[in-house]
Amino acid sequence: MARFNENFLELKESYLFSEVAKRVSAFKEKYPDRDVIRLGIGDVTLPLGKTVVQAMHAAADEMSSAETFRGYGPEQGYDFLRQAIAGHYRTFGVELDEDEIFVSDGAKSDTGNITDLFSRDNTVLIPDPVYPVYVDTNTMNGRNIVYINGTAENDFLPMPDSSVQADLIYICSPNNPTGACYNRSQLREWVDYALENDAVILFDSAYESFVSDDSLPHSIYEIDGAKKCAVEFCSLSKTAGFTGTRCGYTIVPKAITSVSSDGTEMSLNKMWNRRQTTKFNGVPYVVQRAAAAVFSDEGMKEAREMTACYMKNARIIADTMEELGIRYTGGINSPYIWFECPFGMDSWKFFDFMLEKAGVVGTPGAGFGKNGNNWFRLTAFNNAENTTEAMRRFRDLF
Ligand code: MLT
Repeated sequence: MARFNENFLELKESYLFSEVAKRVSAFKEKYPDRDVIRLGIGDVTLPLGKTVVQAMHAAADEMSSAETFRGYGPEQGYDFLRQAIAGHYRTFGVELDEDEIFVSDGAKSDTGNITDLFSRDNTVLIPDPVYPVYVDTNTMNGRNIVYINGTAENDFLPMPDSSVQADLIYICSPNNPTGACYNRSQLREWVDYALENDAVILFDSAYESFVSDDSLPHSIYEIDGAKKCAVEFCSLSKTAGFTGTRCGYTIVPKAITSVSSDGTEMSLNKMWNRRQTTKFNGVPYVVQRAAAAVFSDEGMKEAREMTACYMKNARIIADTMEELGIRYTGGINSPYIWFECPFGMDSWKFFDFMLEKAGVVGTPGAGFGKNGNNWFRLTAFNNAENTTEAMRRFRDLF
């Protein structure tokens, strides 16, 4: 008899955003005429940039002719894209070898897939609240998870605790869901902690393009020593509107090594390459051409314009919180606004209340961990008109 992976019994019945979608569908079925504004899942609304679309068209044309048609591509990504990504890192003062860069279909998949490379015996340190994929994927593997608390008292930026022993450490900065962003000296502490404990940091930088404060790091590799202990995941989903187009990149430095129980030297970079060549066939050529166009001067300009649009929405939401005297974080170096639930409600109760009374969808903080029980997340990814209308309805709740 095939025995199923019983670790799945430890998971919540559905993934956070599936649960939100389910509740919204039920609401729409009940009230088909109600207009619902979605500020829940962080899904972009602006179209792809002109330069990106032109590159996609040109690549599609190449696929239509036998001379330029492409079949299987390199699982790690085409050289032209890996070079463009390396160029992007150079703008942060970070030098990467191209074979440390792996093109993927996004940070969500890779932050989950990377768990293949680590022993099930490893203890995983996860900040709470945080993006639920880290907890769910390690739960599927049956790993021991320890949590560190992000609270209003530490500005949702928990720091290493020498009494906690961990082998793998997840950090998301700018943080999803709180919008909090570690500064250089805080990341320095995390890198030192990882190096002292022979731990590996899994650094999710999916929101790096929203960092507007020049003193804040975009990449963990801006910290000396990080290449010995950190894998970094990034994505074009939020940077350039690729949530539906799908393209991200994972950096696995060659300096991250370990010795097996029988004394064999192991390289995380080689292992990831082995994993990807076995389980992944690469990102479509057309999408990689589009992704490379994001890193051109014109493509970056368009991406920055999109970010600026979303950040205006973030300002509209943050201003509403200030006006109503609601405690919040985020919205400056991040497209998320994280606020304390009003009326003493817990976050799922507030979710139902806001949907019912205002027709506005957000994401309950409880979905990101227990420290989110009384907090709530709104995204800046809708358009200005809907965001303004959502905040008008929000004010009317008071
Ligand atoms: C979110 O809303 O947290 C994100 O859109 C989820 C994701 O990027 O997978």
